Amino acid sequence: MPPFYVTTPIYYVNSVPHLGTFYTTVVADALARYHRARGDRTFFLTGLDEHGLKIQRMAAERGLSGQAYTDEIAAKFQDTWRRVEISNDDFIRTTQERHKQSVEEIWRRLQASGDIEPREYEGLYCVGCEEFKGDDEVIEEAGEKICPIHRRPVERVKEKNYFFNLPRYQDYLLELYRTPGFIRPESRRNEVESFVRGGLRPISASRIKSAVSWGIPVPGDPGHVVYVWIDALINYVTALGGPAAIERGQGNGVLWPAAHHLIAKDILRFHSVYWPAMLKSAGLPPPQGIFCHGYLTVKGQKIAKSIPATRVDPLAIVDALGDTFVDSLRYFVLREYTLGGDGDFTYGALFQRHEADLGNDLGNLLNRTVSMAQRYLGGKLEPSPDADSGFASGVRNEVELAWGDFQPSRALESIWKLVRSYNQAIEQSKPWALAKDPGKRPELIQVLSRCCEALRWSALMVAPAMPRAAKEILSQLGREGDEGSWPVTWGWPGGVLKSPTPLFPRIEPEQQGALVARWTSPDAAAAAATASPAEKAPAPAPSAPTEIAMDDFARIDLRAAKVVACEKIPKADKLLKLTLDVGGEPRTVVSGIAGAYQPEQLLGRTVIYLANLKPARIRGVLSQGMILAAGDAEVLALSALDRDTPPGTRVR
Ligand code: ME8
Ligand code: MG
Repeated sequence: MPPFYVTTPIYYVNSVPHLGTFYTTVVADALARYHRARGDRTFFLTGLDEHGLKIQRMAAERGLSGQAYTDEIAAKFQDTWRRVEISNDDFIRTTQERHKQSVEEIWRRLQASGDIEPREYEGLYCVGCEEFKGDDEVIEEAGEKICPIHRRPVERVKEKNYFFNLPRYQDYLLELYRTPGFIRPESRRNEVESFVRGGLRPISASRIKSAVSWGIPVPGDPGHVVYVWIDALINYVTALGGPAAIERGQGNGVLWPAAHHLIAKDILRFHSVYWPAMLKSAGLPPPQGIFCHGYLTVKGQKIAKSIPATRVDPLAIVDALGDTFVDSLRYFVLREYTLGGDGDFTYGALFQRHEADLGNDLGNLLNRTVSMAQRYLGGKLEPSPDADSGFASGVRNEVELAWGDFQPSRALESIWKLVRSYNQAIEQSKPWALAKDPGKRPELIQVLSRCCEALRWSALMVAPAMPRAAKEILSQLGREGDEGSWPVTWGWPGGVLKSPTPLFPRIEPEQQGALVARWTSPDAAAAAATASPAEKAPAPAPSAPTEIAMDDFARIDLRAAKVVACEKIPKADKLLKLTLDVGGEPRTVVSGIAGAYQPEQLLGRTVIYLANLKPARIRGVLSQGMILAAGDAEVLALSALDRDTPPGTRVR
């Protein structure tokens, strides 16, 4: 079998993971796990896009150096991916030295091909997209030019940049799009093809350093940094050892061009137009394929870091429901959505699949099989060779085709044919009745052995989607050694079963309701909107914050502040509006402490106040800074000073 190299986009470090990035990453993970089980040489890459103006500004807003800021977010991504069982073989960060070298090498190659030229340029730039926009790509609202994707004003830029000669590759690209499977689904291929047919413009390959300093300097011209998208796309080559390793077929270099880039439609043009043209110019073959999926939405709106109402936090979900729910969430996104189209997310649908597909179908088959095997046969099932009627191997073939077509939903749907049919087999053969008649013992053994075999096959085939559940099923069947393999021959190979434990514990409706209320409360959304991005999601195993210098701390203006007025904010059960005496003008602060303190408990207290936090509007109230309290999701105690201190006194 050919090698299989699968990549996710490298995500911007302007926020922590959400359900959208979780989705792409889980699909890539399942594909990688499937190919490993088939014995293919497999390499799975994910990572982070850490340069560019957007990140430069985020870091500055937080008063951190670019590196300190990106290190902090990188730790959160890595913790999250570990927690949800992402089995990436490498984690690339564009601030790594290996990447700088590979970008420099590619730049020199583009230059040697005569494709890099300086030009005076004036145009519109959207920092959200990190992309120059043509006049036809922006909309006008109230006299301002707005990016229709980010709904934010674009910036006018006039500078001398290096440009990449994209138009030169028009014919090459059109030819490439005729390769079957290069861009999937077909509808996306057509879209890209007509875009390229419409004519291409040279693209910016650098930004002037005075405008964007957080990036890789242009080789030979340190007054410029490489444009963040040129920088980012090269990551896929860096991780294999760079262009030279690929050409020499050294180490992981042999995995190029067996690359499959998994992306969503927001970044299709970069991957299917710019990237192959850059590779061609650099003397490298194009990747094998680009698979473009749609958007996950909430009430029809794209899940995005910039829209708090769409926030669905995979970590908050598994924190609340425990590690066993990791698989439920993975299963849900893989089964519920057809890879390619858009799909709307609701918590109701998530709980429904957990209960029906996992609890009632797969979990139930395991539980009743193992219990009956214990009760009627003492838990030991000898090998029971059996002829495959063609049913199980037919299912397996469908599953293989589905994974090969990048269709996880179809793969899982096929596996459930096997699961459901053996649940039915139990209903029909009634092992509890067979057990009462000693003459029927061979029949009883046969039914239960077949159920065990169906479970073993199901476990091996669902493992790419649900690694933990697969392992647990195999363990209850006494077949741990089969983990990581792919089913070949039908017929129970024997095993000593363990005692049955429910795999997908039921979540009572009341608990579901309470959780959904918590996850979707406007306060949670407001907090997500105003909290600094690094504080949005609780980290499972928080890594210690990065070290800072005294200078960093000196930028934080902490003051003694006396609470002179306090009231609840209507319809927000967590928020209080405080008026603070800080020496001069009174300040207003919205604070999420109503769960822990009544307004009257706060009057007259002196607390520690962060005075120079950028003001933010929360529930229509302009909040000027914040007061300090201990605790994470829940407030445990309010900060205080242990002697009378005049309001406004600096705390340091
Ligand atoms: O674009 N539904 O990073 P990014 C489905 N750094 N997938 C979603 C999604 C949603 N609502 N929201 C995000 C960048 N995604 C660049 C990439 S690659 C060389 C550089 C996923 O953080 C989806 O895979 O904006 C999408 O393409 C990606 O996150 C964008 O991540
Ligand atoms: Mg984006």
